[in-house]
Amino acid sequence: MAFHGKVALITGAGSGMGRLAAQRLAAQGATVAALDINEKGLQETAKGHENIHIFPVDVTNTEQVNAVVAQVIKQCGSLDRVMNAAAIMPYGKIMEHDTANILQVMSINYGGLVNITKATLPNMLESGGGDFIIFSSMLGQMPVLFTGAYSASKFATSAFAEILAHEHKDQGVRFACVCPPAVKTPLLQQAKDTIWPKILDENPPIQPEDVLDLIETNLEKNKFWVFPGKGTKIGWIVRRFFPDAIWKHIHKVEGQ
Ligand SMILES: NC(=O)c1ccc[n+]([C@@H]2O[C@H](COP(=O)([O-])OP(=O)(O)OC[C@H]3O[C@@H](n4cnc5c(N)ncnc54)[C@H](O)[C@@H]3O)[C@@H](O)[C@H]2O)c1
Repeated sequence: MAFHGKVALITGAGSGMGRLAAQRLAAQGATVAALDINEKGLQETAKGHENIHIFPVDVTNTEQVNAVVAQVIKQCGSLDRVMNAAAIMPYGKIMEHDTANILQVMSINYGGLVNITKATLPNMLESGGGDFIIFSSMLGQMPVLFTGAYSASKFATSAFAEILAHEHKDQGVRFACVCPPAVKTPLLQQAKDTIWPKILDENPPIQPEDVLDLIETNLEKNKFWVFPGKGTKIGWIVRRFFPDAIWKHIHKVEGQ
């Protein structure tokens, strides 16, 4: 979609792929509503881009999300694209991972998506279409040791995204669910500061630009699942048909 004159709302726009997506769309002439809990990060994203408008918000707060989205639509116009990128990624062995933090991961990564979807999708459906992009993860398709909280939140995200897309089939909105392997963004450090599964070192992190490029390609082809990175789609297929073989390999690599 050529984005000149269009309106995009992006969560997690204060860092990483959300930031890059906001800046790319702004450079193409879109009006971008950049949402994040990190106001400093948002200011950094908007620096030098008059058409990036920042909206500090906690995506877990339903009332705040509803109010901000209403403000965005009033100020910027109907939404042509929504990208859900807000997330956190602390890892941990489930029984050693703080319960409140496990629940917080679900609340941000999945609950935030629910809030944004309920607040934005009606506007897109009413105005006749647009692109609705949801960031899941390869860990939302293939579980790995020590990623329980994050992986569970992304499995929930994948299921929600798939059902949402089918419930709105042929209603003008193009849906995409993005399932990257490790991507070079600040999120990786968050995980590395907790516990890092050795298996994730089997492939080096991919570049955020490559993820965003593939999203555009797949949207144009109306392909819902987006699997950036070499071998990611094959990994997904192998997991579906041979989960025991994958687990055997994971245990061997992790030494437990
Ligand atoms: N980086 C990776 O390795 C990787 C791999 C697969 C999937 N993903 C997914 O891609 C998406 C983008 O991740 P990224 O790598 O750009 O991460 P990032 O850490 O660079 O950006 C995530 C942003 O979400 C924001 N955020 C966190 N909690 C929030 C809240 N409660 N309300 C509003 N904003 C909040 C953070 O402030 C941050 O700016 C995420 O959904 C992530 O799960 C990332």
